[in-house]
Amino acid sequence: MPSPRTSSANTGQRSPVFLLLLRLLIPLSILAGCGRDTRVPVATDVTEVTRNPFQFEEDEMVIGEGKRLFLNNCSICHGHQGLGDGPSRSTLIAEPANLTVDPVASYPDGRLFLVVRLGKMVDGRLTMPPVEKMTDEQIWKALAYVRTLRSVRSLQNR
Ligand code: HEC
Repeated sequence: MPSPRTSSANTGQRSPVFLLLLRLLIPLSILAGCGRDTRVPVATDVTEVTRNPFQFEEDEMVIGEGKRLFLNNCSICHGHQGLGDGPSRSTLIAEPANLTVDPVASYPDGRLFLVVRLGKMVDGRLTMPPVEKMTDEQIWKALAYVRTLRSVRSLQNR
């Protein structure tokens, strides 16, 4: 049986061993890159019903990071606890939503994501501007934190 090398007229062709290694390494490196972060749904694929990949309220790492992201990007309008009482509220054309109670607390994950990514438009006016400086993953993490604000509150209200 002729080897692939001799069957090719291309003298610059690499050795079959090298090609074999390459074939093994490429899928391996793709697999290695398949950590949680690369599976985060990106904005172009998100619909109202897309689930937040960071679901675990007990996941301290995500919640801690989510809290920081929320405080840096949302609390100026929505307040530290998401009650809608941030310091910028008086400068806005609409009241920032209370994120801890219904209806917002019952929105599906994807719907929350899309509000943050696209902003909210009411009667042709942007009532909440899109949050442009956050990555998709950062938005999901901030929203995982927003979910914890809801559960704390509903426990208190029992
Ligand atoms: C510049 C101020 C501002 C910032 C920053 C901001 N929001 Fe808002 N947000 C608003 C206002 C105002 C509304 C109410 C819009 C309305 O009722 O039309 C709102 C509404 C919402 C709603 C409800 C939308 C709906 O369809 O009812 C969600 C969810 C939300 N914000 C999440 C967030 C999150 C999460 C962040 C941070 C990543 C954030 N917002 C950052 C001002 C802001």
